[in-house]
Amino acid sequence: MAEIEPFHVMALLARARELEAQGRSIIHMEIGEPDFPTPAPIIRAGVRALEKGELFYTPTPGLPQLREAIAGYYRSRYGIAISASRILVTTGASAALMLVCAALIDPGDEVLLGDPGYPANRHFVRVVEGVPRAVPVDAESGYQLAPTHLEQHWGARTAAALVASPSNPTGTLISTERLAAMVEIARAKGGTLIVDEIYHGLVYEGEYTTAAAFADDVFVINSFSKYFNMTGWRLGWMVVPEAYAPGIDKLAQNLYLAAPTPAQHAALAAFEPETLAILEKRRREFQARRDYLVPALRGLGFDIPVMPQGAFYVYAGCGRLTKDSLAFANELLERAGVAITPGIDFGANAPERHVRFAYANSIERLKEGVARIAKFLGKTGN
Ligand SMILES: Cc1ncc(COP(=O)(O)O)c(C=O)c1O
Repeated sequence: MAEIEPFHVMALLARARELEAQGRSIIHMEIGEPDFPTPAPIIRAGVRALEKGELFYTPTPGLPQLREAIAGYYRSRYGIAISASRILVTTGASAALMLVCAALIDPGDEVLLGDPGYPANRHFVRVVEGVPRAVPVDAESGYQLAPTHLEQHWGARTAAALVASPSNPTGTLISTERLAAMVEIARAKGGTLIVDEIYHGLVYEGEYTTAAAFADDVFVINSFSKYFNMTGWRLGWMVVPEAYAPGIDKLAQNLYLAAPTPAQHAALAAFEPETLAILEKRRREFQARRDYLVPALRGLGFDIPVMPQGAFYVYAGCGRLTKDSLAFANELLERAGVAITPGIDFGANAPERHVRFAYANSIERLKEGVARIAKFLGKTGN
């Protein structure tokens, strides 16, 4: 526990809420969840489940009809056949990440992680006494682990590499070719590639598919949180190699019994055409926000060498504006009322020179945020 760090952004968010309670207007660009409400068809299905009293435990791997519905989604979205027996419903991608680490890592085993990356990953590894190996990534590899990194850093104790595509905090994708090559390398080394696809669906350009399309020995993590706008329902899933399903079922039984029952019933409506149409509209809105925000931030002096292709994040270099991104974020909040996430939350690879902007906010609010930052920097906004 002593080695687990908090999400630093939580302290910043708490301060932002405090300022709001004092009557200050705050533009939120720090929060890592969609601002859109859960689509109405999903809410209606959830309400129906509550009214019908669907409040008993489900089987640990999830409601059979939800596992089938997820398998159907892989068929319709990616054109691949995945047996429902390989799909395990979890309490968010968080539980899936915990389970995969518990399943694959022995004490002392190493896991390769791109830095910057999602902060919880190294802690999941640590909780099961594994050793997180941060590999610095930069613009050259699209802020993602690449096949060359795996070749270079895979050692005798490496059990797995964990990637997220699109990534938090950089929003960048791993190309299909690279992902396929990384699956091959992990397999050749006798290890595993774990691919977090939680931001799938929120992609604005570039070809992409699920890693489950290449191989049935990868672990794929996904969630209803981001694309489906269901963060608070705490529901996700993983696709695991057939042979691992019973073992992970056993782990999940012991760790948390089952994912929330009403949420699972609600999620049955997530793949209906009506819901997918709502989500597609929202995806286009996210894209419009990105297309506004990236050039605006570049205009203010932030360095964004790679256009983020997905998620709702812009990972921006702030080295021309400050030498201390944490102090910068705190000051920006206090003086300008704009909340952003300092690089320190995402690893040890030049965090003091980076900040993350989340565009989970309306274009009007983003414009106001940019104008405030411009004023704070003594520049004219655009
Ligand atoms: C890359 C990544 N993985 C996993 C999660 C956890 O999501 P959840 O547990 O809500 O599915 C997040 C949340 O921000 C994330 O950014």
